[in-house]
Amino acid sequence: MTASTTPPQLLDTLIESWERQQDAYVNHRAERFGIILDALGYARPELRTVLDIGGGLGSFSKLILERFPRSKVLTLDYDPAMLELARHNLRDYGDRSAIIEANLLDPAWPDALGDEKPDAIVSSTALHWLPTGKLIALYKRLATVLGQGGVFFNADHLSHSAPGSFFHTVSTADDTRQQQLAFAEEVPNWDGWWEQFRAVDGFVDLIAERDRRFSDAPENLETTPTLHTEALHVAGFTETGTLWQYFDDHIIYGIR
Ligand SMILES: C[S@@+](CC[C@H](N)C(=O)[O-])C[C@H]1O[C@@H](n2cnc3c(N)ncnc32)[C@H](O)[C@@H]1O
Repeated sequence: MTASTTPPQLLDTLIESWERQQDAYVNHRAERFGIILDALGYARPELRTVLDIGGGLGSFSKLILERFPRSKVLTLDYDPAMLELARHNLRDYGDRSAIIEANLLDPAWPDALGDEKPDAIVSSTALHWLPTGKLIALYKRLATVLGQGGVFFNADHLSHSAPGSFFHTVSTADDTRQQQLAFAEEVPNWDGWWEQFRAVDGFVDLIAERDRRFSDAPENLETTPTLHTEALHVAGFTETGTLWQYFDDHIIYGIR
């Protein structure tokens, strides 16, 4: 069996299971997506092309395609196995969906966009995988990829806080409670989901390549909202700020 001959029902199950697993780690994940969709709708109703960076299997891309029927969404990721799931997840959108394999740590990644000119860039639960210096460099590149008036939204955990501080205590307590509730309902955790995925014959080679690509890519839990907004400002975004916050979970925005 190969990835493309894997039964579609099995792929659907993996995708649904991914959503429940991510919902367990991000309390109010649906609301977080919804706020970005609403902000795009209010500010850029004529949205044409959206780039979803670290888009994974296309969770956010799909919501954008549904909400903005005239838009095209480019789902960019460096994990070939997740992108294969994205191809399945977004198969009904035809030319309105494009899958782009590129490494955000590679300064030349914008070349992978070809002639596409996004007027919005979004990201969810992905940029905390970049070291701080690379994140700052990425924001400079986003400023060149977006034309004037282009918008950027980053929804992510920005969990830098001193252990023992009030903020650290309440944020981690809320994360723990949310995860305990979900895992009691048999939602898989991160390792459990990957175990399910690794057991699918057709994906063995793609997941091995994914493991090779991310063998030295630890999470970076050391950035703050101020760091993100300043980095965007220095990169050339004219207005930056926090659109939403729930404990350590934030939506940071930048207007080019
Ligand atoms: C936790 S997943 C989130 C996926 C999706 N945005 C969501 O909300 O479900 C993080 C994603 O970031 C991607 N990612 C991490 N580092 C990356 C890099 N250097 N270049 C491109 N994608 C990267 C991973 O492959 C993964 O798909």
